[in-house]
Amino acid sequence: MRKTIYWIEGDGIGPEIWRAARPVIDAALAAESDMRLDWQELLAGEKAREAEGTPLPEATLKALSGADIAMKGPLGTPVGTGIRSLNVALRQGLDLYACIRPVRHIPGLETPVKHPERVDMVIFRENTEDVYAGVEFAAGTPEARKLAEFLRDELGVTRVAEGAAIGIKPMTEAGSKRLVRRALRYALETGRPSLTLVHKGNIMKFTEGAFRQWGYDVAAEEFGDATCTEKEPVPGRLVVKDRIADAMFQEALLRPEAYSVLATPNLNGDYISDALAAQVGGLGLAPGVNMSDSLAFFEATHGTAPAIAGKDRANPGSIILCGALLMEHLGVPAAAERIRSAVARAIAGKAVTEDLAAQVPGSRVVGCKEFGEIIGENL
Ligand code: NAI
Repeated sequence: MRKTIYWIEGDGIGPEIWRAARPVIDAALAAESDMRLDWQELLAGEKAREAEGTPLPEATLKALSGADIAMKGPLGTPVGTGIRSLNVALRQGLDLYACIRPVRHIPGLETPVKHPERVDMVIFRENTEDVYAGVEFAAGTPEARKLAEFLRDELGVTRVAEGAAIGIKPMTEAGSKRLVRRALRYALETGRPSLTLVHKGNIMKFTEGAFRQWGYDVAAEEFGDATCTEKEPVPGRLVVKDRIADAMFQEALLRPEAYSVLATPNLNGDYISDALAAQVGGLGLAPGVNMSDSLAFFEATHGTAPAIAGKDRANPGSIILCGALLMEHLGVPAAAERIRSAVARAIAGKAVTEDLAAQVPGSRVVGCKEFGEIIGENL
């Protein structure tokens, strides 16, 4: 059986990490399944600009709109094209509303905490709303002034000083519920013990506070016989709880074992994803997937690393571990486990790319290509 997967090479270190990663992903799948991946390249970023004169060709968006799986390397922020960020344009254009990042420690990696193995969380971050919606007006512009006047004259809000920069934080019931619904479904399907709504609703009552409430509502309305709350626990059911975002950062350090699936608005999720990835020592190795209702779009979470591009110094681990997420998504969890163990064994063997050297005492530094080959041998 053949499965089409679209892929975007990406800028900077994109080409070299793909060269190292693809053989590993294909070999892991072949070892556990009859399925084979049909890789079809789509252009985006610098490669697209050179070939088509635009960093995000219509054909790429069109193919992705009809696709169910895709994977991308990092894309640089194009200067002077009118596109603020290609990644944001892709997320909004394809309605990739859930950004999912699993966080687990890889044995052998030194981390800033004593017990990184206590962290086993999966973050579901809302990806299209909140202060990231891109509705912002610079200080002193006519638009910002007009908005401040409207607030003062029409709504009686006098706290927005004249000359202020203004950003808008839209959060909807539909947008919040679809994110929490997906997180609940995942938690139930994978037998996770709890789901925590992470919000700042004590201060931002009508946005983040509403996110919390909508989260509890969707759990009760649609998953009522499989979930319970922390106050009224029912053995065997998924516990739905909530934490204020700042307290969640403390909890993540002090009692990580008490948390499993997190569902968060956009900004909170951005912060906690990186904080947790750092806690397990894996910022450079973190995989992620952005999902709409039809498309799972796997992506390396790091950037294009321009300073080391083309020098065989990049770490291909993030995109290789995206391969593990892909395997789970394709229903071949044994291949996912094979990839994760192979990365762990490569690290235990103490031959790592330079970015990991400080975290693996006594290690020998190898290039991107060789690190990929070592992971492949450990499959
Ligand atoms: P970056 O992630 O490219 O680099 C930060 C630091 O980490 C640098 O020291 C870099 O050398 C290192 N690094 C990153 N990935 C690495 C890897 N795989 N192996 C070894 N070292 C690695 O972030 P930065 O410098 O902020 O952004 C550079 C460009 O990447 C910008 O144009 C930015 O917009 C873009 N970017 C794209 C992302 C995406 O496509 N998802 C995410 C973040 C940034």
